[in-house]
Amino acid sequence: MDPDYPARSKYDRAVAENYATTRFAPRVDRRERQIVGALAASCEPFQTVLDAPCGTGRMTGLFLSKRVTALDLSPAMLEHVKRVDGVAEVHEGDIENLPFPDGHFDLVVSVRFLHHLPDESTVERCLSELSRVSGGHVLVSYFDTFALQNLRRWFKQRRRERPGHRRSRPWRVIAAIARRVGLEPVARRCSAPGVSEQWFVLFRKAAARA
Ligand SMILES: C[S@@+](CC[C@H](N)C(=O)[O-])C[C@H]1O[C@@H](n2cnc3c(N)ncnc32)[C@H](O)[C@@H]1O
Repeated sequence: MDPDYPARSKYDRAVAENYATTRFAPRVDRRERQIVGALAASCEPFQTVLDAPCGTGRMTGLFLSKRVTALDLSPAMLEHVKRVDGVAEVHEGDIENLPFPDGHFDLVVSVRFLHHLPDESTVERCLSELSRVSGGHVLVSYFDTFALQNLRRWFKQRRRERPGHRRSRPWRVIAAIARRVGLEPVARRCSAPGVSEQWFVLFRKAAARA
């Protein structure tokens, strides 16, 4: 276990500013928000949402017609979310220890986070917390191993002789961890399967099926 993986500390004021402005090409941002919006729509009716980590609020903004709570470890990222009107609660906190009771939210969203985690036990601890506070669904994204984008990143990192911090994982690994923390897959989407490494998965709490 590496409790100090880079994503815990790298989002300072300068990185947050970049993240909120130029980090994403508009078409990439739009596509990701479309996929998350469509998967979330399939969970209707629902009222309460947790977006964690919310970052600068890219996904939080999709849920302003609901009661949406935003959580992140980085105060600099949260400064941006605080400027968004209509967010019910903003928390500075750690996904490994969420300050909410079991089953508190109808939908829990966690985008662009799992690939920052250094090992499978950390993924399991985080997914377990996200699952614990959901009474219905959990929507996450992860980086899939079997994608051209991943291969390209691997070559780039080798050329620079610098280890990267992002971790891609095969779907079977993510699915097995999810099963252990009480989540079963409902739908999986990718904007360009085999090319794009980012996949979005909607899970439901196994106990919520009956
Ligand atoms: C790549 S950003 C993703 C933000 C947002 N979900 C999005 O898609 O734009 C990753 C975020 O994870 C946050 N983070 C990293 N480790 C965390 C942890 N253990 N608990 C809560 N937030 C964490 C960082 O502060 C950063 O804002």
